[in-house]
Amino acid sequence: MSPRDRLRIAVQKSGRLSDSSQDLLARCGLKFRRSRDKLFCFGESLPVDLLLVRDDDVPGMIADGVCDLGIVGRNVLAEQVLGAGGEAGYRELRSLGFGQCRLALAMPQEIDYTGPAQLAGQRIATTYPHLLSDWLRRSGITAKVVTLSGSVEIAPRLGTADVICDLVSSGATLAANQLKEVATVLESEAVLAGSLNLPGDERGDLVEMLLRRIDGVIQVRVSKLIMLHAPRSALGAIANILPGGQQPIVMPIEGQDGEVAFQAVCNGAITWQHLEDMKRAGARQLLVLPVEQMLA
Ligand code: PRP
Ligand code: ZN
Repeated sequence: MSPRDRLRIAVQKSGRLSDSSQDLLARCGLKFRRSRDKLFCFGESLPVDLLLVRDDDVPGMIADGVCDLGIVGRNVLAEQVLGAGGEAGYRELRSLGFGQCRLALAMPQEIDYTGPAQLAGQRIATTYPHLLSDWLRRSGITAKVVTLSGSVEIAPRLGTADVICDLVSSGATLAANQLKEVATVLESEAVLAGSLNLPGDERGDLVEMLLRRIDGVIQVRVSKLIMLHAPRSALGAIANILPGGQQPIVMPIEGQDGEVAFQAVCNGAITWQHLEDMKRAGARQLLVLPVEQMLA
């Protein structure tokens, strides 16, 4: 493979993760010359190009050095690691806080589920044979794993399986197919994966920079700036009510003895309950603002 001076990131072309993945990269300041139908998008703002691929292809592309980074579900990484006998050609660099889902077992709604023992001897359809087999082994259950390449949810109706093991996010797909979730095999979300050895040249610096920006983007999602006025004596009580991570700034208010303006960045949701509790503790003129960007 010839040396490249540009970084390549692979993301899902279309599916559950594609919009959020591209949104994350956009928030990191990456702009691409759009070519929606094509595999390759040229990076205009930085020497970072985008590859639009099937999510299942991402781990292999990283391992083969076709791309340096990829955004993919932890479930896909875990399946491929097990398939490769525990040897991965990539590592998880960050969990990204979107694309939450679980790999779960589901069966027809009309069947009573009594527990894992009921799965013994059943045919279970999945596109995740390694994760499923591993779970069955750990649970001491002997069942028949039916490996499919897609459309797992219709297998029970077609009679090719009794049970399915598939990703569940909202649960809408299961409901639409009259299936119910009965056990969780793996909790998953989108992660940023990268090659084991990141490039030692400028591209390595680019990766470092992207990681810092991603951390900033993840951070601001849950961060809020709160501003309020209060008697100085009430500050302790008010700070105790706020969610963690605050580094407050306290300023005297001209002409109002004992009164201060307080502002802090909070890492965590601020609820109406928080505001009402702070008001009771003496706070006035409470203002909660979203945080747009953050660089530690
Ligand atoms: C998964 C899974 C279901 C759907 C479940 O597909 O195979 O079809 O999501 O989501 P729901 O519970 O919200 O209905 P995914 O988008 O990961 O695509 P893929 O399996 O083709 O990669
Ligand atoms: Zn997939």
